[in-house]
Amino acid sequence: MSPTSRISGFYRVPREGRLQVIREFLDGADGGAPVDLAAVFEAPDLELLDSFVENAAGMFALPLGVAVNFVVDDVDRLIPMAVEESSVVAAASNVARLVRRTGGFRTESLGRDMIGQIQLRDVPDGPAAVAALTAREAEIRAAADSLDPTLVERGGGCRGVECRLFTPEETGEGTVLVVHLLVDTVDAMGANTINTMCETLAPRLAEWTGAVVGLRILSNLADRSRVRATCRVRLEDLATGRWSGAEVADRIASAARFAHYDRYRAATHNKGIMNGIDAVLIATGNDWRAAEAGIHAWAARDGRYRSVSTWTVDADALVGALEVPMQVGTVGGVTRIHPAARVALRMLRAGTADELARVTAAVGLAQNLGALRALATEGIQRGHMLLHAANQALAKRAGRGPDDG
Ligand code: MEV
Repeated sequence: MSPTSRISGFYRVPREGRLQVIREFLDGADGGAPVDLAAVFEAPDLELLDSFVENAAGMFALPLGVAVNFVVDDVDRLIPMAVEESSVVAAASNVARLVRRTGGFRTESLGRDMIGQIQLRDVPDGPAAVAALTAREAEIRAAADSLDPTLVERGGGCRGVECRLFTPEETGEGTVLVVHLLVDTVDAMGANTINTMCETLAPRLAEWTGAVVGLRILSNLADRSRVRATCRVRLEDLATGRWSGAEVADRIASAARFAHYDRYRAATHNKGIMNGIDAVLIATGNDWRAAEAGIHAWAARDGRYRSVSTWTVDADALVGALEVPMQVGTVGGVTRIHPAARVALRMLRAGTADELARVTAAVGLAQNLGALRALATEGIQRGHMLLHAANQALAKRAGRGPDDG
C-alpha cells in the first residue's frame, strides 16, 4: 500500500520515532534496501567530504527537517529540508495539510533544455555569421551529441542551436555573436556535459564565422527548463479568529500583487519561496546557487524584478501558481554519492530530475503561502518569537548566550 505523508503531531515525536516514520515511509514507497538512517544523517564520511572539495577540514552541519503532509501529483511525499531557519519546515507542513484537502499540488514541466553559451567575439559580419551557423545547425547538433553518447542513449542530447547578436554599441567592443546550445541533459543537471560541448565546439564555430572564441559556459538562466506548480486552498481553511477565510484570501491576493508591482517587496517574497526551494536542493545535494541565480534572473525577465508566484481568489478557493526555471539532477554531482542526498530523493519519491524539479517548485509555493498567510494576518513575529525563545533556552542549556557569536 502506498504510504501516507499525512502525519499529525510529527513535531512531538522524539527523534528515534521520526526516523522510524521515515523508515516505514521509505519501505512503503519503494521497498528499497533498509538504510541505517541515524548513521546516514549523522556521521560524516570525512574521506567522502574530502573528495567533494579541496582542503576539507570537516563538515558544517545544518538541521535536516522533514516537512509532512505533502501530496504532489497524487503522490504522498516526505520533504527533506536542510535549513537553519526556524518555522520554515512547520510552515510548509501546515500549508501542505490544507492543500491536500483539495487534492494536493499539481505540477507540470515547461521544457527540459539547459543552455550552453559560446561567445564569439570580433565577428566581422554578424548576419553572415548567423547564416553560416544556421546552415550548419544539424552538423553542430551532431557534433555536440557525439561528445556524450551515453546522454543520447538515455534520450537526451542537443536539441537546438540559437544565435544572439550584440552590436558594438551594446558590447563596448566589436560585434559579438552568442551561440546557445540547447541540451536536454535528462537526469543530470548537466553543467559538465554542456561545458564540454561548448569548449569543444567553440573553435569550429569561430572558424566558420571568422570570429574569436570568448567564454564557453552553461547559462544559469535556465529559462528553457521551467516548472510550474499550482494549488488551491479552500477559503474556509484560511479563517482566523479575527478574519473570515474570504478576508484572509483577499489580503493574501493583495500581498501577492504588492510583490508584483514593488521590487523591494518582490525580493523578500521570492526569498520566502527560496526558503523552501533551497532547503530541498541542499538536502538532495543539488547546486542551489544555480537555482537562486536562475530564478532571480527569471524574476527580472521583463526588465523589472517581480515575484515569481501569483495568488488569486477563485470562487471558494485561494489559487496559487509558481513558475520558475529549475536546474537539478538526480544523477551526477554529489546527488548519488552523498548518502543523505540519496535518502532524501527516496523520501521525495523523485525518480527523475524532472520530478524533483516539479516537487521542489511545489515546496516553494507552499513556503510562499505559509509566509503570506502569516504576514497578511497576525504578522510573522509572534510565531518567530515563540521559536526564538525556545532556541534561546536551548542555547542557555548549552552554556552559551544566544548572541555569543
Ligand atoms: C523570511 O525568511 C521569509 C519572509 O520574509 C518571506 C516573505 O516576506 O514573504 C517571511
